[in-house]
Amino acid sequence: MSSVTTIVIIGGTGDLAQRKLLPALVRLAAKGRLPENLAVIGFARAQHDDASYRELMWSGAHEHGDPPVERPAWDAFAPRLSYVCADLADPASFDTLRGRLEAIEAGAERVDRLFYLAISPALFAPAIAGLEAAGLAREEKGWRRVVVEKPFGHDEESAAELDRRIHAVFGESQVYRIDHYLGKETVQNLLVFRFANAIFEPLWNRNYIDNVQITASEEVTVGDRAGYYDSSGVVRDMVQNHLLQLLCLVAMEPPSSQNAESLRSKRVEVLDAVRRWSPKEFAKNAVAGQYDGYLDERGVAPDSRTPTYAAMRLFIDNWRWQGVPFYLRSGKAMAGKRSEIAIQFKAPPLTIFAHQGSQDPAPNVLAMCVGPDGGFHLRFSTKVPDQAMLIESAHMEFHYRTSFAGHEIPEAYQRLLEDALAGDASLFIRSDQIAQAWSIVDPLLRCWADPASPKLERYATGSWGPAAADELLAQDGFAWQSLCGHDE
Ligand code: BG6
Repeated sequence: MSSVTTIVIIGGTGDLAQRKLLPALVRLAAKGRLPENLAVIGFARAQHDDASYRELMWSGAHEHGDPPVERPAWDAFAPRLSYVCADLADPASFDTLRGRLEAIEAGAERVDRLFYLAISPALFAPAIAGLEAAGLAREEKGWRRVVVEKPFGHDEESAAELDRRIHAVFGESQVYRIDHYLGKETVQNLLVFRFANAIFEPLWNRNYIDNVQITASEEVTVGDRAGYYDSSGVVRDMVQNHLLQLLCLVAMEPPSSQNAESLRSKRVEVLDAVRRWSPKEFAKNAVAGQYDGYLDERGVAPDSRTPTYAAMRLFIDNWRWQGVPFYLRSGKAMAGKRSEIAIQFKAPPLTIFAHQGSQDPAPNVLAMCVGPDGGFHLRFSTKVPDQAMLIESAHMEFHYRTSFAGHEIPEAYQRLLEDALAGDASLFIRSDQIAQAWSIVDPLLRCWADPASPKLERYATGSWGPAAADELLAQDGFAWQSLCGHDE
């Protein structure tokens, strides 16, 4: 046996492991995309032996996997899986883990280890310290990498502190910070759309684009996640990470290659150019909302001011985007699940059809549908037949569902795990990008934490959010565009 790779899932019994990581690993194994000698160790507090751990993970992966894991694929994978019972505060647990690793790796010339932190952020630092103390992080006979789940800190300062702790043990090239949006097939396709087609790039700037809108709406409420959510809110949960990542991909300059550092640097440059609003400026450029009934959710403080909805106006101060507003919005308990980027192009310079009594043609909008039904729509004006010069909008559409019928659209974690194992960090977040993202939203968090801040708007469950968010765009003469699902 010349080489062995082991993934240690710290927090191995949790939701993430059951719903996402194990289903992704089983699927990758079935596709033959995992290293040949790959073992997975669950490392968590609950009392299990290998057999009961496998049983737990089987039922989780079968019930919650998307798609559900089926028995034959599970049976082929299960022998790779074992369990070590852990107390992260107890160094002896890490010694036991080392013993297990050494037993699995016995006789191998090369040993690679991926430590996956699938635990609450408060435990990131103790877990890293435990790995270090047991000598598990030292690169001997192979690589050592650590995957860190979001949230990475709760503001700029805490993220920097976490970075310091991680960097005391792992070098930056060993750290894989996850934002699962980057692993989505449709998000990766944004790069292909922009940089493998020559027709859009000449239009992709302030000369032709009026505004850009990024929406990530969800129908679900906070459900049983209030313990986490009530102290985070929508800005930390969705904006600082997922929405800003989408902003980077839509606004970045063309990288010179597909190389991880080139891609990551271009993403960071976008955030660097985002105009920093002060808390006072954010009061005029952002809207906070909370859905009706949020305060009655189990685990939510009765007087909670946690926003479950945010909309904001940002500007990117560079040559390409100067003066183009970027509107971001995200919320829970909304009318539909939709992640979408709408690029609204400028109106034609002269409306020669106005005299026909028809309305001005609707502006061209290119909507990049990130999910759930990935694809693109291009809205353009067209003549209604047999109606003089009556104009209506039509859509040109591409959807993976139809154009690639029969192809699997893999869940983000498959790609991310495969890349972390292969050492490709393109789809992971570099330390400086985390810092930039926090420095953009920190003043917003401070603005909304101030009791004198603008009021928290209520919105009805199942609506498209507070009216104040529509007014934010109306101030600039725009309206939210949504082409990917049904019209709002
Ligand atoms: C997670 C957030 O990061 O993303 C959740 O913590 C949110 O609150 C989820 O529901 C949305 O992800 P997706 O892939 O369903 O759009």
